[in-house]
Amino acid sequence: MLSDSVVEGPPPFTRLWAEIVGVGRDAGSGGYLRYGFGGAVRELERWFRGVATADGAHTVEADGNGNLFAWYGPPPERGDAVLLGSHFDSVPHGGGYDGPLGIVSALLAVRMLRESGREFRRPVGVVAFAEEEGSRFGVPCLGSRLLSGALDPDRAAGLVDRDGTTLAEAMGRRPAGARPELLSRIGVFVELHIEQGRALVDLAAPVGIASGIWPHGRWLLDFAGEANHAGTTRMADRRDPMLTYAFTVLAANKEARLRGAHATIGRVEVEPNATNAIPARVRGWLDARAADAATLEALVEAVRAKAADRAVRDGTTLDLVRESLSPPVEFDGGLVTAFRRVLADGVPVLPTAAGHDAGILAAHVPTAMLFVRNPTGVSHSPAESASDDDCAEGVRRLADLLTELAAAG
Ligand code: GLV
Ligand code: MN
Ligand code: MN
Repeated sequence: MLSDSVVEGPPPFTRLWAEIVGVGRDAGSGGYLRYGFGGAVRELERWFRGVATADGAHTVEADGNGNLFAWYGPPPERGDAVLLGSHFDSVPHGGGYDGPLGIVSALLAVRMLRESGREFRRPVGVVAFAEEEGSRFGVPCLGSRLLSGALDPDRAAGLVDRDGTTLAEAMGRRPAGARPELLSRIGVFVELHIEQGRALVDLAAPVGIASGIWPHGRWLLDFAGEANHAGTTRMADRRDPMLTYAFTVLAANKEARLRGAHATIGRVEVEPNATNAIPARVRGWLDARAADAATLEALVEAVRAKAADRAVRDGTTLDLVRESLSPPVEFDGGLVTAFRRVLADGVPVLPTAAGHDAGILAAHVPTAMLFVRNPTGVSHSPAESASDDDCAEGVRRLADLLTELAAAG
């Protein structure tokens, strides 16, 4: 196993992490406001370019879709590259580890190998994917979907954020879309990520390997009724979309529980949003996930049917629009087996219901993920956490995998 270089002061992970910990952090909540193509992410990207270049990257390549690749070793055009990395963006007031931990760990794993004097026999890249959370433009894994051709660049260009800014405006250009030549250069992708649950805590293991990702998606539920006076409109005369919405939230929770699945409505918009007016319109976003695609489909259909039935009774209307769908992912079995051997037996192998760029890339290249223990088990919240010791262990394990996959001699 590679070991950290001996330098006075805090260990390498602690030092590098400290350089970004304040970027985009909200002083009130302690969570992060790092949105795709926004100021905090731009600052992190500048930092990424600087660190990678100082560590010997010969190229930092922007792919025209918001994704940044730092390349080391043989020219990437040679193909069969080993790619590591994750994303910088966060959900609103999210944790600091979801995404950036994978990029910082990748930069450090590359640095460890270089400092050990090993050369790379294959091209090695570190990637920072754009807008993985979909918190700004609604489509998760936006950058990796564009790169791989899973998202049409014209559709993407017209996506609008909460302020009415289009993606094309935020990027300053229409996204490039599919880059098959770039994708074909990648021989393997490994994403290290904070665990978003408590499995590793319960197993007393600092790191684990992912087996796969549950299918999941996002649906916009658009309820319309009639705006009217809260004081003078008789209860029997109301067409209140808030009622249909409220019923649907409870129905989604029940239908998910019945199937051992997950359903969440975590974002809502109300018009006109006045205390003394019956709303004209309520829009809620359903996030649904299940162990298999058939269960997910049945769950969403059950929610739709219940909401539609309730809308008739409320005198409202419902429009249901799918905004994204991510099919089930099983990570590369050969890689999982090889990684278990390199990391030593006993490293847990876990499924997850969280989406990742690794899930998008898995349809095109052999892909695997490493998870680092999260003592709170909480994620998408400021309570997300990891100890520096576990993060340093994650870096060492990633460096071991990189040695196996890419080191010469
Ligand atoms: C990404 O974090 C997701 O929402 O699954
Ligand atoms: Mn996330
Ligand atoms: Mn993530």
